[in-house]
Amino acid sequence: MKAAAIRRWGDATEFQIVEVPLPDLGDEDILVKVTCAGINPADWKMRAGFLSDAFLNTAFPLVLGLDAAGVVVAVGDNAGEFTKGQRVVCGNNLFQGKPGTYAEYLAVDKRKVTLIPEHVGFETAAAIPTAGVTAWQALFAKDKGALKSGQTVLINGAAGGLGSFAVQFAKWAGADVATTSSNANLDYLTSLGADLPIDYKTQDIRDEIFKWAPQGLDLIVDAVSGGSLGDAFALLRPGGKLISIATLDVDGDVQRDTAEAKKRGVVKIFALLNDEQMGEDLKAIVALMASSELVSPPIKSFQFDQIVEAHEEIEGGHVRGKLVLNIAGDHS
Ligand SMILES: NC(=O)c1ccc[n+]([C@@H]2O[C@H](COP(=O)([O-])OP(=O)(O)OC[C@H]3O[C@@H](n4cnc5c(N)ncnc54)[C@H](OP(=O)(O)O)[C@@H]3O)[C@@H](O)[C@H]2O)c1
Repeated sequence: MKAAAIRRWGDATEFQIVEVPLPDLGDEDILVKVTCAGINPADWKMRAGFLSDAFLNTAFPLVLGLDAAGVVVAVGDNAGEFTKGQRVVCGNNLFQGKPGTYAEYLAVDKRKVTLIPEHVGFETAAAIPTAGVTAWQALFAKDKGALKSGQTVLINGAAGGLGSFAVQFAKWAGADVATTSSNANLDYLTSLGADLPIDYKTQDIRDEIFKWAPQGLDLIVDAVSGGSLGDAFALLRPGGKLISIATLDVDGDVQRDTAEAKKRGVVKIFALLNDEQMGEDLKAIVALMASSELVSPPIKSFQFDQIVEAHEEIEGGHVRGKLVLNIAGDHS
């Protein structure tokens, strides 16, 4: 099969479209003919070698990519309800040593897959898994945000992939939502339902938050970190939670920050996507899309051989919505 692969860690120009063997199909795997693959910031971080520890057992050429949408072409003996011909959206088995989603075919564990509803297209679906499920878990998982109706939440980094989902999920759950973005994305975030869109370049985030929520916030989902909120704990009410979406530097020392939060009367939780059962969260998310309670983030699509441009753009850090790679077939 054809795949976009790298032969060593490096910049975006390391990608080449190469022939690689079809992935092995495990007993509980599904083989998907990939129509579209989603692109995430984690992909460029892996490509550059920042997450190379996770690939200790992987040989080059390495096929990256975390998210896919396509059609089932084969199923393992214990692949549950899935059958050939179904349209599916899914995660990957990259960290289990299988090729990622930037390829014509993908073998993926059945627990990371769900069916795509009739009126949802492949591009739209491929944009969901990593960004959508991470946002869903950060807001709603009992050991993370556990967000309730009527609470106040700030989404830091709201105009990107994760943020575009998080804003809508939080509104759907009945929360009041503040967001950060540059000026160019304020109207976009209002269109997604943001109650308080803050321009992080020209406004004082703390002043704006306390004018809006004088007691402090119930929850922050921080998808930027790196000190971008200043003293983030000071934005929370007593007992409020900061969910830090792990970025490159994991935004600090986990033990020290957790203890410091406790001392300040708030909670800091470092959140990583848990993809073991991501099919279940994906199912809930695509159902919201099918019922028009969730709109797709704007998608910029790239042809398979434009992988270098796509990676340069995601690495720039200012995508609105999502980037998707069109690999084969009809993407609608
Ligand atoms: N650990 C995990 O499991 C996990 C899972 C998913 C994502 N992540 C991480 O979460 C982060 C966000 O992911 P993503 O998919 O949403 O990325 P993304 O789509 O690349 O995010 C781009 C957005 O970030 C905004 N932004 C940049 N600097 C900002 C700042 N200082 N304040 C507010 N907004 C800012 C930009 O808005 P403007 O253009 O308006 O500045 C842009 O819309 C990434 O670092 C990613 O690696 C981690």
